[in-house]
Amino acid sequence: MSAKQVSILLVGIGGYGNTHVNELLHAYSDGDIHPVIAGVVDVHPEKSNHYQALQDLKVPFYTTMDHFYADNKADLAVISTPIQFHCEQTCLALANGSNVLCEKPIAATVQEVRRMMDARDRSGKFVAIGFDWSFTPQIQQLKQDVMSGVFGRPKRLKTIVLWRRTDSYFSSGWKGRKKSDQGEWILDSVAHNATSHYLHNMFYILGSKTDESLRLQSVEAELYRANPIENFDTCAVRVQGEGGVEALFYATHAVSHNFGPSFCYEFEKATITYTSGQNSNRIDAVFADGTVKGYDALKSSKLRTCIKAVASGDSSIPCGLEAAYAEVLCANGMLDSMPAIRTFPASMILRDEEVKFTWVEGLREALLDSYHRWALPSEAGFDWAAKGSQTELGNYRAYVG
Ligand SMILES: NC(=O)c1ccc[n+]([C@@H]2O[C@H](COP(=O)([O-])OP(=O)(O)OC[C@H]3O[C@@H](n4cnc5c(N)ncnc54)[C@H](O)[C@@H]3O)[C@@H](O)[C@H]2O)c1
Repeated sequence: MSAKQVSILLVGIGGYGNTHVNELLHAYSDGDIHPVIAGVVDVHPEKSNHYQALQDLKVPFYTTMDHFYADNKADLAVISTPIQFHCEQTCLALANGSNVLCEKPIAATVQEVRRMMDARDRSGKFVAIGFDWSFTPQIQQLKQDVMSGVFGRPKRLKTIVLWRRTDSYFSSGWKGRKKSDQGEWILDSVAHNATSHYLHNMFYILGSKTDESLRLQSVEAELYRANPIENFDTCAVRVQGEGGVEALFYATHAVSHNFGPSFCYEFEKATITYTSGQNSNRIDAVFADGTVKGYDALKSSKLRTCIKAVASGDSSIPCGLEAAYAEVLCANGMLDSMPAIRTFPASMILRDEEVKFTWVEGLREALLDSYHRWALPSEAGFDWAAKGSQTELGNYRAYVG
């Protein structure tokens, strides 16, 4: 049987978009599926590492999606643009008959996510959200085991991610910003961009269906910044979810050495742990009697999943809008919990002028200490720390700032 051709529109081919281009150019020689790049939409395509290769293939380039769709169609639009464009571009792709793989996070605000859900329902197409872990067989197996009660009731979960980011990261024009110059919400932050995978994963594995996450009830957040940005580069968060489960999340870009992601999910009958770089990157579930169930290193291709879904007509996507919604809800609620982000005391903020990054003395230790104690830094007694208010998420309708 010959492979079914799937036409693909790439929206955003620089930055992370390079990964998708690279995969399309090199990873589909197995004859199983046959993706064809129908076009590229990017305002600065020449910045992509694959610009010349795409030119050589005579792929047409456009600066807007309207121009592409005026003369073309695509089975799948792959959107890897800054957060403020996700909603508009996803809705436009759906209205023009494309399925969508949109990069995480879904969008800046929950109200945009609802618009995207409506547009998807009108179109009959699917929208996948690029939380990579959710597309791995390992996380799917773990989620299946959680759903079928292998570990008993979830009690509490925690995750820590300490990832340094240099000045160049924040100079992209949208990273660390709350609003664009045109007034669109961006709400880019350490939690709602680079480390959002791991915030999402806590909610995702507790969802009662494959494409669902835990229902969130409230959030209290501590939000800080060391870098000269509008939004926060450091956070500690406590989320309450349905069934009395608690999720704690600690993340920062203001450290000099990376750590994590590392997590610990406590259930009635087992504790599930993972630390990047340890145990061959395996997730281990340790039961009360010492039995261990391991989930191997996480590998997947969300792009391949989406192309296969288009080719087969089976559009059951493991991580769509409903599944990824909880992360946006949490990120919006965090900002409502602590609208006035605290800048770390000047005496704690240090600079590395060689590599060009800002970091906070003692922050790595403080976040690890809080993580080990299942506490927020303010509860653990750090004098620079302060907690936001408890924000209800059960009936949360819109982030208005
Ligand atoms: N899954 C992952 O692991 C992962 C990793 C990094 C980034 N991302 C996500 O990818 C998205 C892009 O992030 P990035 O860091 O690559 O951003 P970036 O700014 O480095 O690149 C964005 C690309 O989009 C293009 N672009 C900007 N505005 C556009 C518009 N209006 N129309 C078309 N193209 C436009 C830019 O020219 C650039 O090529 C974000 O949602 C981010 O969270 C995902």
